[in-house]
Amino acid sequence: MNRQWLYAKPPQGKIAVDTFQWTETAIPVPRDGEALVRTRMLSLDPANRAWMMGKTYRDALQPGQVMSGFAVGEVVESKAAGLKAGDIVEGDWGWQDYAALPARRLAKRTTKAPLELLIGPLSITGLTAYFGLLEVGKPKPGDTVLVSAAAGAVGTMVGQIAKLAGCRVVGTAGGQDKCDWLVRDLGFDAAVDYKAGGVYRALRAVCPDGIDVYFDNTGGPVLDAALSLMNLRGRIACCGNVSQYDVEKPAPGPMAVPGLVVTKRLRMEGFIVMDFYGQRAEAEARLARWVEEGKIKAIVDIVDGLEKAPQALIDLFEGRNKGKRAVRL
Ligand SMILES: NC(=O)c1ccc[n+]([C@@H]2O[C@H](COP(=O)([O-])OP(=O)(O)OC[C@H]3O[C@@H](n4cnc5c(N)ncnc54)[C@H](OP(=O)(O)O)[C@@H]3O)[C@@H](O)[C@H]2O)c1
Repeated sequence: MNRQWLYAKPPQGKIAVDTFQWTETAIPVPRDGEALVRTRMLSLDPANRAWMMGKTYRDALQPGQVMSGFAVGEVVESKAAGLKAGDIVEGDWGWQDYAALPARRLAKRTTKAPLELLIGPLSITGLTAYFGLLEVGKPKPGDTVLVSAAAGAVGTMVGQIAKLAGCRVVGTAGGQDKCDWLVRDLGFDAAVDYKAGGVYRALRAVCPDGIDVYFDNTGGPVLDAALSLMNLRGRIACCGNVSQYDVEKPAPGPMAVPGLVVTKRLRMEGFIVMDFYGQRAEAEARLARWVEEGKIKAIVDIVDGLEKAPQALIDLFEGRNKGKRAVRL
């Protein structure tokens, strides 16, 4: 049997368990040029919700389709050149036990790293942090770097890479517990609980020299506050807008744009991690080395069982994860 979660219907406001529908179907048979893959790890991402809002960097989800999602799996049968049973591959085949896919939609992973790392820190999550910070944010030693959703998958990596780059690192996260953890366990210089209110004042207090690089995972009130605290010629790497995904309608944007962008000569630049895949091998090797040498802690937050995927995604928007949330099958 191939167990699947379908995308059932567009959410009214927040996603709920009934946004998805459980179904069981026959295991697909691979055709020539295809491989049959068994899912081992399923990535849960804020983007899963954003894809329900309409066209993004990919087409919007359509009700009735298998819920999309990035996954890591094992080839169980191959009719594709270059792939054989037992190979570990990654790709976007969604919330299901099995998928038959053409080889061009599968990327073979040859590293011996555990699957828990291949679903995030040593794949999309780590690469997003790496390229967004180093290529878009371009931090210099001594810079103050702010990252929002700092206790999450991308944020934990951004903060630690920024420390390796010689920066002073400040994060925002929901709740004092997460903030304390960022400073105590991950080496952040300071962290601000954006849910406690007064985020501008709190950030001003811990960024006495202003902000040189803001890695924006959230948009919303943290972006508003950061804009006012940015230094001349500061860089804002626009990675995501998680504060505005799980809502009926996104709120209007910060009123300070473009005024502050002009006067402070800021550069705000959006990016999608795939833009940098030409440099992927080198970035992955560096990330793997940092993790191996203990210079970066790869934080993963694993939930067991495909049946738990909807609730685990809902919980992501409640901030119930630390580090990379993924489902193990
Ligand atoms: N550009 C790209 O190529 C790319 C690739 C991957 C991910 N992304 C983006 O990167 C961002 C982080 O993704 P991730 O996978 O690392 O997820 P994540 O940070 O592990 O999980 C999402 C986090 O967002 C926070 N959050 C939820 N609602 C919020 C709100 N209303 N305001 C502020 N924070 C809120 C929660 O933490 P708290 O407890 O702090 O609220 C939650 O833990 C997302 O915006 C995602 O779309 C972009």
